[in-house]
Amino acid sequence: MTTAPILRSVADLRAMVRGWKAKGETVGVVPTMGALHDGHLSLARAARRDCARVITTIFVNPKQFNNPEDLKKYPRTEEADAALLATVPVDVIFAPPPEEVYPEGFVTTVSVGGVSEPLEGRMRPGHFDGVATVVTKLFGMSMADRGYFGQKDWQQLQVVQRLVRDLNLPVEIVGCETIREADGLAMSSRNRQLTPEGRLKAPVLYAAITRAADDIRAGHADRMAIREAAEAIRAAGFDRVEYIELRDAGTLMPSSDVTRPRRMLAAAWLDGVRLIDNIPV
Ligand code: PAJ
Repeated sequence: MTTAPILRSVADLRAMVRGWKAKGETVGVVPTMGALHDGHLSLARAARRDCARVITTIFVNPKQFNNPEDLKKYPRTEEADAALLATVPVDVIFAPPPEEVYPEGFVTTVSVGGVSEPLEGRMRPGHFDGVATVVTKLFGMSMADRGYFGQKDWQQLQVVQRLVRDLNLPVEIVGCETIREADGLAMSSRNRQLTPEGRLKAPVLYAAITRAADDIRAGHADRMAIREAAEAIRAAGFDRVEYIELRDAGTLMPSSDVTRPRRMLAAAWLDGVRLIDNIPV
C-alpha cells in the first residue's frame, strides 16, 4: 500500500489544496497529534466518505500542553501513523515542524470564553487557548470545507463549534462517536502509557460513569450516583478522580434540566496517566 505524501510546509499544503479547489473538490481536514489509533482513523474514514479530498494533520501542539513533561513523553510514531492512514486512505498528511506553525514573532492567541472555562479548562489552564489557536491556524492553512473531531474530547468539540460560529470560519464541524476497546475503554494515545495492570483497571472509568448515567435515568439522585461512580473508580485502584460532572451538553454548565441534552464527563488518574471520558445522559 502506498502511503500519502507527507508535507512539511504551509506553502506546499496550500499549493496542493488550491489545485483541488480549482476542480471544485470538497476538502476535509482531520487534525491530530499523531500516535494514531482506530479512534483517529474513524474520523479519517468519515472524512473519506463525505469529501473528495482528505488531509490528516499530525502536529504535537506545544501550546496546548501545560505540563512540559507531558509534552516530552507524548508518543511520536510518524511512520506507523502514515501506514495506518494508508488503509483509509487519505490524500495527504500535513506534519509541519513547530517553527512552521509558530515562527519567530508569533504572538496571537485565540481564546474562546464560556465553554472553555470549566472542567478541562479549570484543570489545564491555557489548554483550550492552545487548542483554539492551533485549530484556527490549521483551518486557515488547509482551507478545508469540513473539520472532523471526536466526541471523546467532548468539551474540545464544543469549543471548536463555538470558535467556528463566533469567528464565522467557513468550516463545517463534524463530531464523530467515541471509538472504544472491546472492554469499553475509550481509545486514546495515552492508553499506551499504562502498565499492563493499569490497562486491566482502566475500563472501570467508562463502566462507572455508564452505571451512574443509567441510575440517573432511572430516577436516582445525580449527586449520589456520581459519588458512587467516584468510589468505584477509586476502589478499582485509580490514583485520583479529578472530576465527574453532569453538565449541559452544549454549554457545559451545571444542569439539572432533564429536558435538555446532558453529558456526564470525567477525568481520573491511573499509573500517572490522565484518562478522560464522557457519555450522554
Ligand atoms: P488528538 O488527541 O490526537 O485527537 C485527534 C482527534 O481524534 C480529536 O478530534 C479527538 O477527539 C479524536 N479522538 C481521539 N480519540 C478518539 C476516540 N477514541 N474516538 C473518536 N475520536 C477520538 O485532540 C487533539 O489531538 C488535539 O487537541 C487537536 C484537535 C489535534 C489540536 O491540537
